[in-house]
Amino acid sequence: MSAPRIVVFGGGGFLGSRLVTALADLGYRVIVPTRRRDHVRHLLVLPSIEVLETPDLDDAQLERLLEGAIAVYFLVGILHERRPGDSERVHVTLLGRVLAAARRAQVGRLLHVSALRADAEGPSEYLRSKAQGEALVRGSGLAWTIFQPSVMFGPGDRFLGLFAKLLKWTLVVPLAAAETRFQPIYVADVATCLARALHDGRTLGQTYPLCGPKIYSLREIVRYVAELSGGRRWIIGLGASLGAIQAAIFELLPGSLLTRDNLRSMQRDNVCECAFPAVFAVEPASLESIAPTYLGPGAVTDPYFATREKRLR
Ligand SMILES: NC(=O)c1ccc[n+]([C@@H]2O[C@H](COP(=O)([O-])OP(=O)(O)OC[C@H]3O[C@@H](n4cnc5c(N)ncnc54)[C@H](OP(=O)(O)O)[C@@H]3O)[C@@H](O)[C@H]2O)c1
Repeated sequence: MSAPRIVVFGGGGFLGSRLVTALADLGYRVIVPTRRRDHVRHLLVLPSIEVLETPDLDDAQLERLLEGAIAVYFLVGILHERRPGDSERVHVTLLGRVLAAARRAQVGRLLHVSALRADAEGPSEYLRSKAQGEALVRGSGLAWTIFQPSVMFGPGDRFLGLFAKLLKWTLVVPLAAAETRFQPIYVADVATCLARALHDGRTLGQTYPLCGPKIYSLREIVRYVAELSGGRRWIIGLGASLGAIQAAIFELLPGSLLTRDNLRSMQRDNVCECAFPAVFAVEPASLESIAPTYLGPGAVTDPYFATREKRLR
């Protein structure tokens, strides 16, 4: 008998790569649709993961892809728009098409990754479009679970990792939204929750904010990354207008550092108001227990995730 199939949209990404390996370890056959095979080179060596290069699936092809799958995970997301309207196209339109195809293909389970503080009235396009996506999931008629992670860290992240790169070049760090508070969560803990929810009936129809054990201001996080990278930096918090100018300039530079929409998201603290959901039996790892393993002086490069990192540069 062949292994049950699970389709993971966004399975080649930062979170998706951890999830698909976890699902493959549990014995599932995992299908990862991707716009470009090259984006998921790091998954090609794994025998129970099947990569499908499918840049433009029409609705009938989507339905065929989902036929016979026991579950669909939707992890596709973008933090930076290349063209106006990208957030809505990805977080709402594409998700809506996947939900409709999953219904037609009678997929038994839908697990969706949104974002902490997704809000239809939120300050940014990112948070508003994520909320619209959540509303579609809740109204889909499928057996759904929604996850709302705070910012995720781990080898290959574009949060601490970006600051670490930036700090190599500067002693003075002008920082927008320096006092905004975050509660970062380890990416592998989120992947564990996603995998454990699959067959746990208690998670049906539930929305789970996921945060790490400790709250930090952005200033504290950047100071910590500087310490790990071997030096002190002078961090200057920018007010709203200077922050907006910085974001507008960074938006034009390569490297996806910061956009005006990101800054608007950071008008609100990115922290959980409740304890970590006990249903997953996960004790979330602290930043201090993980970050030194990939940012500190003795950092070890994981060759598997290093391949993924390379293609992101
Ligand atoms: N990273 C965080 O700190 C964080 C925090 C909160 C919530 N989230 C959410 O968690 C999910 C996973 O995040 P992540 O950091 O793992 O993201 P990621 O590494 O950027 O991966 C996202 C995936 O989405 C796919 N994708 C991107 N744009 C697309 C498009 N226009 N059409 C189709 N597919 C597209 C990519 O697949 P291909 O390139 O293979 O096609 C990629 O593998 C996202 O929904 C994100 O919004 C992330």
